[in-house]
Amino acid sequence: MSLQLNTCPQALELIRARVSTSHFNPAFEIDDDLVADLIGHACEAPSAYHLQNWRFIAVRSREGRQKLCDPAYGQHQVKDAAVTVIVIGTLDGYQRIRANLQPLVDAGHMGPEDLEAWANDTHRGMHDRPAKQRDEAIRSGSLAAMNLMTAAQALGLASAPMGGFDAAAVSAAFGLAPTELPVMLVAIGRPAPGNWPRKPRRPVGEVLSIV
Ligand SMILES: Cc1cc2nc3c(=O)[nH]c(=O)nc-3n(C[C@H](O)[C@H](O)[C@H](O)COP(=O)(O)O)c2cc1C
Repeated sequence: MSLQLNTCPQALELIRARVSTSHFNPAFEIDDDLVADLIGHACEAPSAYHLQNWRFIAVRSREGRQKLCDPAYGQHQVKDAAVTVIVIGTLDGYQRIRANLQPLVDAGHMGPEDLEAWANDTHRGMHDRPAKQRDEAIRSGSLAAMNLMTAAQALGLASAPMGGFDAAAVSAAFGLAPTELPVMLVAIGRPAPGNWPRKPRRPVGEVLSIV
C-alpha cells in the first residue's frame, strides 16, 4: 500500500504544467527585482559539496539580445522573451568552498574542523580533475536551470530551456572566463498564442526499474 503524501499538491501541478514555450509575448517585460527573485530561486538548487558552482547572465537589453541571437542560432525565443538567462557552470567553483561553508560555521551548525575536513575532501575530489569539474558544472547548472523554470512557472511565467547554442560563441560574446561553461539558456516571459500543448511522457513502467 502506498502512503498518501500530498502536502503540497500545487508543487506537483507546477511540475506537470510547465512546457517549453516557443512563442513569447514580445511586449511583456520583467524588471530587475523579478530577475533577481528568479535567480534567487535558481540558487536554491543543490550542488555537489555545496559548490554553488554557477553564475547567471540575464540577457534583457536590446544589445544583449543581439549579441546572443547568432550564438543561439537565431532562436526567436531570445528575441521575444522578456529575459534569457545564460546559466553558467564554473569549473573552479571548488576553490571557494570555504567561503560557501563559513556561514554554517558562523551559525554554529558546523565546527571549524568539520569545515576543514569538508574543504579538503572537496579539493581532493575536484582538483586536477577536469572531467569531474565539467560534470559538476553541468549537473549544478542543470539543476539551477530546472529550479529557474519551476520558479518562473510558480510566478505565472513561461519558460524555454535551450541547449541549441554555440558555447564558444556565447563565451566570446559575453566575456566568459576559460573556467566558465555556458550550460543552458533559459528564456522567460509571458507566452503568446500558438504554443504546443504539453507533450505526453513515456509511461513510467517503461523507464522505471525498482530493484
Ligand atoms: C537541455 C535541453 C535543451 C533544449 N534545447 C532546446 C533548444 O535549443 N530549442 C528549443 O526550441 N527547445 C529546446 N529544448 C526543449 C525540448 O525540446 C523540450 O523540453 C521537450 O520537447 C519536451 O517538451 P516540454 O519541455 O514542453 O515538456 C531543450 C530542452 C532541454 C531540457
